[in-house]
Amino acid sequence: MQKPIKILGIAGSLRKGSYNRAALRIAQKLVPDNTVLEIFELDKIPPFSEDLEKQMPESVANLKAKIRSADAVLFVTPEYNYSIPGVLKNAIDWASRPYGDNSWDSKPVALMGASVGMLGTARAQYHLRQVFVFLNVYPLNRPEVMMANAAEKFDKDGNLTDQKTREKIKELLDALVVWTIKHQKIK
Ligand code: FNR
Repeated sequence: MQKPIKILGIAGSLRKGSYNRAALRIAQKLVPDNTVLEIFELDKIPPFSEDLEKQMPESVANLKAKIRSADAVLFVTPEYNYSIPGVLKNAIDWASRPYGDNSWDSKPVALMGASVGMLGTARAQYHLRQVFVFLNVYPLNRPEVMMANAAEKFDKDGNLTDQKTREKIKELLDALVVWTIKHQKIK
């Protein structure tokens, strides 16, 4: 049997009742066979300062190690003011440093996002895709999973009540695993 595919899942919200963190927990249960999804929470990541990058805080060193040992990364992003939330960008910046030690380099990645708005994080996702260019990751283009009107799709306990959204998340995870295996073969 092939070695299990390890996906690291990162949600860009610290909110207890976060739809994006809930979506990530749901994704954890929908991964294909022989795949594990480990969640990394961003609450211990301090604000980035270039002064600190030579003696990385332990939480950041831990994040960098988790990224390195993962076969792929799944980002789950909220949309704040039409863009990526600061906590997520902050973690991305940390793990891309110091110069020459970009932990994201050459990683297969996928993204999805939930918002209470009608566009389901579309604008934040395209901003994140722009950031992917300099990170030198391999982003999965499709499917695009933009969970609009999230308050109607999740219940108060963070359960996803919308079957179509569940199928989309499953489709994304299946495609990410195929993409990751393809990438491993050409490495
Ligand atoms: C938002 N929200 C929001 N929604 C959206 O669709 N487009 C946007 O530009 C914004 N902007 C925005 C800015 C800030 C500072 C906050 C706090 C919120 C609403 C957002 O979709 C909602 O709060 C989600 O519930 C956030 O995701 P989590 O925390 O539920 O994962």
